[in-house]
Amino acid sequence: MKKDLGNIKIYIMDDYEQMSVQASAIVAEQINGKPDSVIGFATGSTPVGMYKELIKLNKAGKLSFSGIIAFNLDEYFPIKKSNAQSYDYFMKDNLFNHVNIDKSKLNIPDGEATDAQAECIAYEGKIKASGGIDLQILGMGNNGHIGFNEPADAFTNMTNCITLDKSTIEANARFFQSVNEVPIKALTMGIKTIMLARKIVLLVNGEKKAKILKDSLLGNITPKVPASALQLHQNVVAVVDKEAGKYLG
Ligand code: F6R
Repeated sequence: MKKDLGNIKIYIMDDYEQMSVQASAIVAEQINGKPDSVIGFATGSTPVGMYKELIKLNKAGKLSFSGIIAFNLDEYFPIKKSNAQSYDYFMKDNLFNHVNIDKSKLNIPDGEATDAQAECIAYEGKIKASGGIDLQILGMGNNGHIGFNEPADAFTNMTNCITLDKSTIEANARFFQSVNEVPIKALTMGIKTIMLARKIVLLVNGEKKAKILKDSLLGNITPKVPASALQLHQNVVAVVDKEAGKYLG
């Protein structure tokens, strides 16, 4: 089912697999239409199926990543790239090592940086120098965060170093040996960085995100629900499964 809110198009797909196929088609269309696209990537469980589909398209010769520039949304801080829970490791493991991407064009905030603030400023500068993000892929946290922009009193601006919410640390503990190993900080593109992307594809699945998804797309625009900022963007495609989309009508 497809719904059109004007600036936000919503695909409500039967299941996670269909969501992943639909989202991969949107990414492939972007790259095939503009082979030197600047693509913003996300980590987490949600986009893993889409990355599998993109790998399939690449192996089938239907999609080439050779011209793209990649910028990831976020990274824990501090964290070693060699740590299997780093987003650097995640991206190589789930996508970059399996497709014909130019390794010199991969950008992820540096979790090993000595000066977090300087790294954030440099990262934002690299995005700008690339011409800006053509297509940003987003997942959404249980609390409505996008990137690691947690609920707050004001929307964040550019790439910054944030303290993770207790709820995010608990949600992400599933990937670590214990909750105590989850870094308490992260480097993340800010809401403004995300909003400057020319197109956004938001992926959300599962019943437990149904209410926050409805609040994000149909509720008040408030920094307490960071994803609600997307209502102010001109070109968002939300691809969700029917569990997540159950309150979208
Ligand atoms: C990941 C990111 C986060 C996740 C969100 C959902 O780069 O920026 O906003 O998209 O935490 O994570 P999952 O998909 O694991 O539920």
